[in-house]
Amino acid sequence: MTASRLVTLLSCLLFGVSCTFAAIITPKVFIITMFDLETNQWFGIPEFNLLAQNITVPGFSPLYQDAHCTKDGAICLLTTGQAEINAASTISALLYSRSFNLTSTYFLIAGIAGVNPKEATISSVTFARYAVQVGLQYEIDAREIPPQFPTGYFPQGSTAPGQQPGFWDGTEVFEVNDNLRQLAFGYAKAATLNDTAAAKAARAKYTGPAFVKGAAPPGVVLCDTATSDEFWSGNLLGEAFENTTKVFTKNAGTYCTTQQEDNATLQALMRGALFHLVDFSRIIIMRSASDFDRPFPGQTAVANLLGDTPGFNPAALNLRLAGVKVVQGIVSEWDSKYARGVKASNYIGDVFGSLGGQPDFGPGSIFGGKPARA
Ligand SMILES: *[C@@H]1O[C@H](CO)[C@@H](O)[C@H](O)[C@H]1NC(C)=O
Ligand SMILES: *[C@@H]1O[C@H](CO)[C@@H](O)[C@H](O)[C@H]1NC(C)=O
Ligand SMILES: *[C@@H]1O[C@H](CO)[C@@H](O)[C@H](O)[C@H]1NC(C)=O
Ligand SMILES: *[C@@H]1O[C@H](CO)[C@@H](O)[C@H](O)[C@H]1NC(C)=O
Ligand SMILES: *[C@@H]1O[C@H](CO)[C@@H](O)[C@H](O)[C@H]1NC(C)=O
Repeated sequence: MTASRLVTLLSCLLFGVSCTFAAIITPKVFIITMFDLETNQWFGIPEFNLLAQNITVPGFSPLYQDAHCTKDGAICLLTTGQAEINAASTISALLYSRSFNLTSTYFLIAGIAGVNPKEATISSVTFARYAVQVGLQYEIDAREIPPQFPTGYFPQGSTAPGQQPGFWDGTEVFEVNDNLRQLAFGYAKAATLNDTAAAKAARAKYTGPAFVKGAAPPGVVLCDTATSDEFWSGNLLGEAFENTTKVFTKNAGTYCTTQQEDNATLQALMRGALFHLVDFSRIIIMRSASDFDRPFPGQTAVANLLGDTPGFNPAALNLRLAGVKVVQGIVSEWDSKYARGVKASNYIGDVFGSLGGQPDFGPGSIFGGKPARA
């Protein structure tokens, strides 16, 4: 018996966790969804059967207790539960679970998202380079802001909107492998995306020069993603967080999608990467657009938030239509390309430079350009 199996056996005896000595699974691709609508797209499909193995992982959400894998373990899926705390907790539980060897696994975040009509439209599928945690800021209610403030949000340790943060928590920005992103984008473009008459009608209301992309037909788009537990709607918050994205990324990032998990997922993956449990250069952030983050001209912010969301179903469907192409691309070229990895030529990691290298945003590496852990 190996040392790790002995530890597993002791954990089973001590903590009563139900354990079987199934072989450790070494996935090529791990799909990460956030809730059932996204998850269900991947079951009962012709390409592969993710219900051939169900693996209960201690620490997963009570709503989504199992990881699901194909019989050979090459493709797996988990569901984090929604928002930042669920995402970070579930991904951490996966990394330290001992059921998986994830050192060579590609992670495909596959979720729906809000969309900025200045950058893209509903039913589109997007791939992000930067994930920005725009909610991690000071906030004053709009009715109490000083007259010169355009918004109630401003960075921690600053004295007004538009300034750099006075201090950083490290999770404000993550940058992922752009070469891998371009490959995923290429695979996804081969998909025929779904769209509906209702989504077309909703999109057509985004008139005017600012919303040309919001009114255009859906497609596969390269653009960044903003994370916040808070689900916002409106022109002013939209613009405030466009500004935050610019400030946090030193003008390199432009958010097109809004979601509640990705920086948390990335932070948990980054911590695992520090201990060589995962490879941070193997992460793809795919978000499809289900609803606009601000109203069309003449509509109120509340009506946009509470009204119909005809983009919801095509966005969910498109996660799978585009995502299957990405999964198949990686699995089919595994031996010739993906097993050894796709080298990043951009900086990858967090605000602090924890994985080594110099981030082009934030205060610069606080570890002198070296990894935080040798
Ligand atoms: C996995 O769970 C699903 C239900 O979530 C079930 O339909 C399927 O049969 C299970 N697979 C196995 C191998 O038990
Ligand atoms: C994990 O998988 C990689 C190859 O994918 C292999 O090189 C490594 O030895 C495995 N690690 C363990 C602990 O089994
Ligand atoms: C969240 O992650 C994105 C994507 O990596 C990154 O661009 C963004 O800066 C991150 N934001 C925060 C606040 O961590
Ligand atoms: C999109 O999906 C819906 C629901 O499955 C279907 O009715 C519609 O025909 C599809 N549209 C296209 C363009 O594929
Ligand atoms: C965004 O930044 C621009 C340029 O600094 C500023 O004019 C505008 O008022 C800001 N908008 C919000 C809502 O903060």
